[in-house]
Parts: sequence; structure tokens; C-alpha cells
Amino acid sequence: MVFTATAPAAQPTFHRDITPILAAKCQTCHRPGEAAPMSFLTYTQTRPWAKAIREAVATNRMPPWHADNTVTHYSNDLSLTPAQRSLILAWVDAGAPEGNPAEAPKPKVFTDGWRISKPDAIFTLPESFPVPAKGTVEYQYFTVPTNFKEDRWVEMAEVRPSAREVVHHAIVSVRDESGFFGGQFLAGYAPGAAPQIWKPGVARLIPAGAQLIFQMHYTASGKSATDRTQVGLVFAKHPPRERAVALRAINSWFVIPPGAPSHKVEAAAQISEPLKLAAIRPHMHLRGKAFEVTARFPNGSSRSVLKVPRYDFHWQPYYYLETPLELPAGSRLECTAWFDNSPNNPRNPDATESVRWGEQSWEEMMIGWFDVLLPVHEPLRSATRR
Ligand code: HEC
Repeated sequence: MVFTATAPAAQPTFHRDITPILAAKCQTCHRPGEAAPMSFLTYTQTRPWAKAIREAVATNRMPPWHADNTVTHYSNDLSLTPAQRSLILAWVDAGAPEGNPAEAPKPKVFTDGWRISKPDAIFTLPESFPVPAKGTVEYQYFTVPTNFKEDRWVEMAEVRPSAREVVHHAIVSVRDESGFFGGQFLAGYAPGAAPQIWKPGVARLIPAGAQLIFQMHYTASGKSATDRTQVGLVFAKHPPRERAVALRAINSWFVIPPGAPSHKVEAAAQISEPLKLAAIRPHMHLRGKAFEVTARFPNGSSRSVLKVPRYDFHWQPYYYLETPLELPAGSRLECTAWFDNSPNNPRNPDATESVRWGEQSWEEMMIGWFDVLLPVHEPLRSATRR
């Protein structure tokens, strides 16, 4: 008979202490079919990774979260609390013990194949697109009719490539029957992106008869692949109080000199009507180094709303403000981006080039994407401002 000493209360175990953390902060990605290459759903799956988990958590590489949390609170914050972090480290240091399965919480329920709840509607590219192993692929556009007979309010939206390794980004826009503006942004995918999930009472409008336009940017990965991206939509169960609309601040007229280690580029969106700022997503390419957003109010005061001190092209989530920020008419959302075009940037495709705006990863972009909230039937008048 084998006697094991009763573990001291301080020694964390997988089932009692670690499973709740994995469910809250890791399993959205670390389960079958999602972005991470290994699952952390069970002890058997997780145990072989214990040392790697310690390393990734100790160096803050995992969970991926790049915003400075002292600026404000974000509702989709993935980062570990100091207590969760020390529990994980102590668990690995204790030899990653399993503990008693009876002490495990009920497993978290996920939707198979999605990070949103089970979609009410799924729209798929009309055909699979073959991405060659090498070379540059122009942007591809696909139009998919919704056949909606009435207006639909969407409270969750998720764009899912079938071949993530070749999708640089996907943007799904809504074109109403008038063809107005070529489309209102609905949802997007970029590496490390999270689905769009609004709070109850907030939704995006898809008007009756609208079409969905998929803008697909494929990049060759060295292996040929075929992709058939989908978008899944969850409809609001009740009429929303507020409408989420996308707004952008763009600067497309910059030139980053060769070798510049910290080249600054600015852009702003001018707010023309009272609205609320709900979410922010910085977008730059491989030379992107840092990104900040400040809200400037008409009375001259200002408030920082996002700081991403170490931007990473491979992680481009929306940062959802825990409490949406009221912006009176006359406010501005000011974005500052820094680019590293020096040879010290290991991702830099070429430090000897002057770099301008362009669609491909070796060119650059500077966009602050916002989601703003408006009364349900107001059109958006605010716009990007030089
Ligand atoms: C938003 C998605 C996402 C979340 C949340 C996430 N991971 Fe990951 N993780 C990934 C992806 C994608 C990879 C593989 C690519 C990479 O390493 O960047 C990965 C890789 C890893 C690896 C492999 C070694 C390494 O460092 O690359 C470990 C260990 C790991 N994650 C641990 C965790 C732990 C522990 C958590 C939660 C505390 C977590 N991850 C949360 C997406 C995620």
C-alpha cells in the first residue's frame, strides 16, 4: 500500500486551483479548432506543457495581452491577476500535481467551432480560394447576399478563416440596397483577433436586403492552401438601445525613413455628435512598435484610453472599454503610432527602405479602428481628420 502525505493547503493542484484559471484565461484559444496549437482542457493534455506554461507565464508571453492596464479597464482583459500568476508558478514548481478530480469546477462550456455563442446565421465565401505557396496575392472581394427580409440587429460576430496560416486579414462589410459607401464595417479577422461581442443592449445593424462584402487579404506561407472564410452572427434577442458603428482614424501620407528606430505618425477622428467610445483596435504592420489613443474633449482636457507599449502584429484584438466613454460633439480621438524601421527590429523586412502606406506586410499602415455607440436610428457624422 502506498501512503502519500496529505498535501499542505498551500500546494496548488490542477483540479482545484489551475482549472478555473485555464477556463477563464486560456481555453478560449487552447482547445481543439482554435488558434493555439495545444489544448489545455484536461490534466492529461496540460501536464506535458507545465514547464512551457511556467516559462510563458513568467515572461508574460501568455496569455497574450498588450495593453497597459493602468490606463483603464477593458472588459475582454485576458491578463492574469497577480494571484493567478503566482498560483500557476507555484503549481509548476510543486511538480504540477493533479489533485482530486472531485474538486474540479464544472468544465466551462464552449461553442464547438466558434468563440461566440452558437451563431443564428453563418455566411460562407461562395467558393474556396486557392492561395499559392509563393508570391503576392491581390486583395480578393466576395459578395454574399444575406436575403434578410427585415432589418437584423447583430450582437456577436466572428470571422473565421478555414486556413488561418494564409489569412493576413479579412474584413466583412455590410452594403445596403442603395450600395451606400461600399459598406459599413461588420466584423474582421486579423492574427490574434477576438470576435466582436457587444454588451446586452448594443448591436450592429444589417438592413433588410443587404449584402455582405468579404475583403480577403491572403499571404503566401510557403505551402499552398485553400481557404473558405465564414462569418457567424448572433442576433440580438431584444431591440437594442444603442447601435455600434465603426469609425477610423487613418494616416496614409507618412514616410518612415530607412533605419528610423522610433518614427512617430499621428492621426485623429473628429467627433461631430455626442457618442460613446466602446472599443479600440490599433492596426499597423511589421514595423509597428507602439500605439496610443487619447480622447481630447472640447474643453481642452484629455484622457488616455489606450496604450500599447509593445505592439505585436500577431496580436491585434479590439480593446473593449469596461465602461464606454462619453464623448461630446467637438471631441477628438487622437492616435499616435511609433514605427521601428531599424535593423534592431527582428520583424523588419528591410531596414534600408523608405516605407509608405501599402496593403502588403512589407509596406505599412496606420489605423485606429473604433467602435462607437449611437442612439439606434442616428447616422454617424463623425469622420477621420488629418
Ligand atoms: C488569445 C488566444 C490565446 C490565449 C487566451 C492563450 N494562448 Fe497560449 N498560445 C496561443 C497561440 C496562438 C500559441 C502558439 C503561437 C505562439 O506561441 O504565439 C500559444 C502558445 C502557448 C504556449 C506554447 C509555448 C509558447 O510560449 O509559445 C504556452 C505554454 C501557452 N500558450 C500557454 C498559455 C496559458 C497558460 C494561457 C492562459 C493563462 C494561454 N496560453 C492563453 C494563444 C493563446
